[in-house]
Amino acid sequence: MHNVGVDFYPEHWPRERWETYAKQMREAGFSIVRVAEFAWAFMEPEEGRFDFSLFDDALAVLHRHGLKAILGTPTAIPPVWMKLKYPEIMQQEPSGRRTQWGVRKHQCFTSGAYRLLSERVTTAMAEHFRATPNVVGWQTDNEFGTNSCVCGSCQADFRQWARAKHGTLDVLNDAWGTRFWGHLYRSWEEISFPDGHASHNPGHLLDWQRWTSDVQVRFQADQIRILKRTCPSHFVTHNLMGLFQDVNYWELAKDLDFVSWDNYPGSWEQPCVTWHSSLAADLMRGLKRKNFWIMEQTAGPAGWGEFGRNVRPGELGKIAWHQVAHGADATIWFRWRTCTVGREQYWHGLLGHDGEPRRRYREAKDYAAAIKRVETAIEGTTTPARVALVWDYDSLWAVRCQKSFPQADYTANALRWYSAFRALGHDVDVVRSGADLTGYAVVIAPMLHVLPDAVARQLDAFVRAGGCLVADARTGVKDEHDRCHERCLPGLLAPAFGIRIEEYESIVANATYAVAGEAMAGTTWTAQHYADWIIPDGAEVLARYQPWHVRDYAAATRHHHEAGWAWYLGTVPKEDSVHAAIAADVANKAGLTARVVPPAGVEVSTRSGQGRELVFLINHGEEPAEVAVTAGKTELLSGTTTGQTLHLDRFGVAILRW
Ligand code: GAL
Repeated sequence: MHNVGVDFYPEHWPRERWETYAKQMREAGFSIVRVAEFAWAFMEPEEGRFDFSLFDDALAVLHRHGLKAILGTPTAIPPVWMKLKYPEIMQQEPSGRRTQWGVRKHQCFTSGAYRLLSERVTTAMAEHFRATPNVVGWQTDNEFGTNSCVCGSCQADFRQWARAKHGTLDVLNDAWGTRFWGHLYRSWEEISFPDGHASHNPGHLLDWQRWTSDVQVRFQADQIRILKRTCPSHFVTHNLMGLFQDVNYWELAKDLDFVSWDNYPGSWEQPCVTWHSSLAADLMRGLKRKNFWIMEQTAGPAGWGEFGRNVRPGELGKIAWHQVAHGADATIWFRWRTCTVGREQYWHGLLGHDGEPRRRYREAKDYAAAIKRVETAIEGTTTPARVALVWDYDSLWAVRCQKSFPQADYTANALRWYSAFRALGHDVDVVRSGADLTGYAVVIAPMLHVLPDAVARQLDAFVRAGGCLVADARTGVKDEHDRCHERCLPGLLAPAFGIRIEEYESIVANATYAVAGEAMAGTTWTAQHYADWIIPDGAEVLARYQPWHVRDYAAATRHHHEAGWAWYLGTVPKEDSVHAAIAADVANKAGLTARVVPPAGVEVSTRSGQGRELVFLINHGEEPAEVAVTAGKTELLSGTTTGQTLHLDRFGVAILRW
């Protein structure tokens, strides 16, 4: 079943309204509601005294209307009594000041008091609600994110973490390269956080970034242990934030039954293909190689002080179907009714401030009815990609703290490759660096800056065995400790790419280098930001720089390496056409054929399984689109049979049974 529902805050509204709301939700075809994730102050009004009556009553009302519930553990915002009694639960800022209580997500993840109080409220909630008939699962905390506390407890925790990881100071000194500038450590107590992030030691910074992520994973694990022990029949998930950068989601997802995420696309741009939201969805699916839930989704204009544009007629459903096409098995809108008080007064829900069910409610209702009609067909299906994109937090963090060239942007770079393959109609899985690559014909490894030898060998073997590998500038510069490899680039991947990069440079601001295509016949394009001076060593030159000082070097190459192929792009092209041309060449060599090649503005993706193959077509634009398709396929939403072309209205969606 595909659950549809909303995030609902009964504590925001008079009890007399609950009945009406539950009825309206049910009438809209909703089946599930998330509650309680910011309600600690209601549930533990003073230390150790628990009072769950508000939620008992609210859950009972929801239950009477056939609505299931997901409970959030409330640990993203401690009650004010807690910070007065235990001031050390608040994060400490670099100035030494404790963060003022009053927003949220400002607590210290290593504070003993906070960890204990969090475990206690989680235990009390789990014991209290384990037998509540409509509770089906849990969300841990809310959007684990940036952890910027610098208190003594965090520093001690980091030291312990480093000690557990490196074992001896000699190993740590070697890993961090502390011989540089005489940063040698002779006792563990001497180690503290890297300060002044921009200029600190890269190895130290990378470990610190890993630690900030790990303490959140540990904090979550403490809750999951309690929830699993006390409520074994309930699922446990967390609401992740897509392409958010500060938490290693491969690790955070490990302990969850499935991943959920919060999808807020397009508030600040005109309607267009929201590739970031597509890539995020594929990452969320990749984390556990399993479908995901949408726990929060745009329901109207969004913003805390200023708000973005409204969802246009038809767009609410399009946003929801888009995620279903990428593997969402539940759709939950944020939020039910727009708050009349508090910081999120302008983050609009399905209902406005007046609480009347109007257009956005009706569109959500239409979507719920439509997905009901096709949920049996969708059930048990997931995306069957032959293209994998490597998503590596170590590389992302290493590049973030030491960019190489000023415009380097890990995510933007990944999106360029991702959208090039998607635009050709190919599904893409997102995989972890070093993951098993069996079944993939193509691996895209954008800016795989941190390249441990084992991963390099695995990628080389993948190509030798017949795979197609695509990589680009700054690949393989660092080892797992963020030390530069003592090799000519691209290091152990040089044989696969058939190239040597002895020199490289940033291209200074506003300058560009003309590039002339060779095998990419007839095209000329523009290199910006960065240039690898590529010496072909077996590889075919696809494009060559034109300025006199780099005329001897390639900007892009292709190499036949035993049974497979490897492409290398050594610069940042100004024109999207370069990624598009390489992607087409790769797909061709890999023998991939898309079922549907979508026109601009339309996205195609597949879900298959249980003997069914479903091709989703999503028109992200405001203009109707005509899509060339195979005739004789059933379109599930309308029940019609396709001709040679399929018409999609603005924000139109079609699901073809293949
Ligand atoms: C999310 C968060 C919600 C709400 C929403 C709108 O990031 O999980 O609690 O704050 O944004 O701001």
